[in-house]
Amino acid sequence: MAQTSTRNGTSKFVAIGATYEGRDPRLLERMLPLVDYIEVTPETIAEVHDNQITLSNEIITELKILGKETKIVAHGVGLSIGSHEGWSPTYFHLLDALLEQVDVAWHSEHLGYTKVDDQHLGIMLALPKTEEALDMVCERVIKIQERYKLPFLLENIVHVIPDYPGDFSEAQFLNALVNRTGCGLILDVYNLQCDAHNHGFDIPNFLDELQLTNVRELHVACGVEHNGFLLDVHSQLTRSSTVQLARDVVRRSEGSAEVVVYEFMPEAVPGLGRDAIAGELGRLRLTFRN
Ligand SMILES: [Fe+2]
Repeated sequence: MAQTSTRNGTSKFVAIGATYEGRDPRLLERMLPLVDYIEVTPETIAEVHDNQITLSNEIITELKILGKETKIVAHGVGLSIGSHEGWSPTYFHLLDALLEQVDVAWHSEHLGYTKVDDQHLGIMLALPKTEEALDMVCERVIKIQERYKLPFLLENIVHVIPDYPGDFSEAQFLNALVNRTGCGLILDVYNLQCDAHNHGFDIPNFLDELQLTNVRELHVACGVEHNGFLLDVHSQLTRSSTVQLARDVVRRSEGSAEVVVYEFMPEAVPGLGRDAIAGELGRLRLTFRN
């Protein structure tokens, strides 16, 4: 595991995690010696039968066994915490079922919205950084923390379209969210790079303004460029600049960053290859160890 210095100067290990959505024992066999955490997305392991959505029994059985060997974290995509009309009850149905059956170290979601007036957008959009949006999200985070007695983290997402003018900068909004609720942050550094490429987002300025001691988890990933737009599709091995950025945040987090997770879509596994994924995880371990 990697080491970083804490506020009082002592060393602390940083763990490595990776996405796993079940039904790929050959991938798991390659990954397990290299990771300390497995990240599972409830919606990805769900199935629909007779118009009812439930978690796959087969994958739940797999996760119960896996939970004896490694730590598991739940990372949702369908909560839509930022939808004005309300979040998705289906997400809670799936998360309840997962947490009842599998030991999870913490759970997390994305700071965005995927539906408007109950119509699914087919994409996740970032919230306007306004007082009104902050009040709404904070109230919902507190309800989530009351419902589940587990740490809850929120992740910065890519900006598909430029930000609506708001009351806060990106970093001020995240700082206020944590200060008001006590939730943790996931910092996806590849998402920051997408925003820098697509919209000229100023990463150094953002990191100077963000309270990096609120970052508990980091995500690294890589996608492709399409018509000059860098896409958050998690289909590639990481770029060295992404890992370097993660390393910088870990160093400046003063020990709060506990894990760096390499994210990739299950659909990307055949193209990437299991050996290459294991190689990526091995490199991450080496990078964060030194
Ligand atoms: Fe992420």
